[in-house]
Amino acid sequence: VILTQDELKKIAAYKAVEYVESGMVLGLGTGSTAKHAVDRIGELLRQGKLHNIVGIPTSTKTHEQALALGIPLSDLDTHPHVDLAIDGADEVDPFLNLVKGRGGSLLREKMVEGACRKFIVIVDESKLVKHLGGSGLAMPVEIVPYCWKFTAQRLQRLFKESGCVAKLRTSGENGEPSVTDNRNYVVDLYFNKDIGDLKAASDEILRLPGVVEHGMFLDMATTVIVAGELGITVKNK
Ligand code: A5P
Repeated sequence: VILTQDELKKIAAYKAVEYVESGMVLGLGTGSTAKHAVDRIGELLRQGKLHNIVGIPTSTKTHEQALALGIPLSDLDTHPHVDLAIDGADEVDPFLNLVKGRGGSLLREKMVEGACRKFIVIVDESKLVKHLGGSGLAMPVEIVPYCWKFTAQRLQRLFKESGCVAKLRTSGENGEPSVTDNRNYVVDLYFNKDIGDLKAASDEILRLPGVVEHGMFLDMATTVIVAGELGITVKNK
């Protein structure tokens, strides 16, 4: 049988939920893959197979989904120690570094997933890459709206060697700027060459005033579950 991409996402998500135990504080990810994991957690709670779960959503969207499923919710102020987070990713490299945020939720994701003991990433095999940002796809950076063009320019200049093009993320017919859950904008960086040392790139981006956070999640994932045509692969750090 040929599985659809969404079926693969669901397989990875269900596998990750096997790591969930009653009593855990759980980081709930955002996106089409994480959605399956949140649904599954809701189902297990309803069936009485899990109890005493506290969910920390990584976006308003996930908050709404989890609320509708009856998952008890909290936040990092109340629960600063998260046992396990489960979330998707846009790219995963061989060292389990990630690009996230094509769905725009990178800041809350990074806050929650940076606070957890275990972070399981769930992807279908199309997300595996050799080099982050090398697939010609967007590397998202959340920036403050104030003088966003200035910040976008500076980001582009930072990576001019890698042929970087910075584009403001827009939505709707009129091309209005997309606004994140934290009322910021997102600039997508496109590279035509390898960006080289990821840690250095991360530091340089974060050093720019106006930048709130970027979508590189370096050294954060503890496990990556990949679902592919040939089955599930679990990669541990
Ligand atoms: C949300 O901002 C993102 O980080 C998502 O977690 C990521 O884009 C993966 O989304 P999909 O599972 O929909 O591909």
